[in-house]
Amino acid sequence: MTRPHVNLIELRGLKKHYPVKAGVFRHAVGAVRALDGIDLDIHRGECLGLVGESGCGKTTTGKAIIRLHAPTAGQILYRPRNGATDTTLDLAVMSRHELKRQGVRGKLQMVFQDPTTSLNPRMLVKHIVAEPIRAQERLGSRALEDRVLELLAMVGMTRDHLLRYPHEFSGGQRQRIAVARAIATHPEFLVLDEPTSALDVSVQAQILNLLEELRQRLGLTYLFVTHHLLVVKYISSRLAVMYLGKVVELAPTGAVFSHARHPYTHALLSGIPVPATRPRGGRIVLSGDVPSPVNPPAACRFHTRCPFALNICREMEPAMAEVAAGHWVACHRHAEVERLVKDQFG
Ligand SMILES: Nc1ncnc2c1ncn2[C@@H]1O[C@H](COP(=O)(O)OP(=O)(O)O)[C@@H](O)[C@H]1O
Ligand SMILES: [Mg+2]
Repeated sequence: MTRPHVNLIELRGLKKHYPVKAGVFRHAVGAVRALDGIDLDIHRGECLGLVGESGCGKTTTGKAIIRLHAPTAGQILYRPRNGATDTTLDLAVMSRHELKRQGVRGKLQMVFQDPTTSLNPRMLVKHIVAEPIRAQERLGSRALEDRVLELLAMVGMTRDHLLRYPHEFSGGQRQRIAVARAIATHPEFLVLDEPTSALDVSVQAQILNLLEELRQRLGLTYLFVTHHLLVVKYISSRLAVMYLGKVVELAPTGAVFSHARHPYTHALLSGIPVPATRPRGGRIVLSGDVPSPVNPPAACRFHTRCPFALNICREMEPAMAEVAAGHWVACHRHAEVERLVKDQFG
């Protein structure tokens, strides 16, 4: 079952705190703990799904990995494919200059949720796709245009689309353009941040198929961010579930759907509207809102919404434990969760 894998990226204790400022002088009065100690390995060639409710830190994780912003603490270890085998870069501590000099910028790219805002409305498609190439290498105008045409073909678009503006396209086509731009610099890793969430349902499958085809053809590795478990069910081989700035469960996708061990994962699965795809057992409906990441609950930060919380959950933070091969969970009651869900909600 488990094939040997190589880690392309390893997150170790990754934190990102955004200052909360107040008053005339905008003094920092606290921090939004968007990421509060993430440990996660991303295997070369895989599509790892990152799921969780809005505000749990998924986008912040993606942006930190590709260094759109600098983390507050922790390591982002990256092993480039063409580097010597022992080359490991810690992106967390590299300066802008260093990231550029090591060619990291082009190797790690991101596709955002809404192509309407992520594509410059005043630029022609030709220039949108050419821009990242220009920033990386010097190509003659002929060679550059050939490369742009090749990229457009890879995402199912043609020469006719070169001299048009983003608003002339449908949402699906705009996302294709965004994907062409993201793969323009021969990246090896893409963060896909809810890439289909802004699209009509009828178009979502086409974009998912395109992404899957490109992953295989170009040997890409994906971190696929979504709040919707079903979107990643078919495209991801493993899923990481986040809650309030932490990963609470990590497992092969099939195990998440059949044997989730964290109550929060069960709650996410309960939110899936088609009953037949839900695991047998029960439907947990969580009470209460997600607590603020400015002051997350102590110990297990899910205890305020967990139907099974005990005293220990309010007193001690559960560590990640491997409960089956490749299946990790951070919950004091992981061994009983499936039965509890069935008994109380079945
Ligand atoms: N630039 C920012 N400044 C302050 N807080 C932010 C910023 N970006 C995100 N946050 C906060 O960090 C938390 C995680 O946000 P985000 O990573 O966007 O979550 P998700 O993508 O899972 O919805 C949220 O509480 C959000 O409000
Ligand atoms: Mg987000």
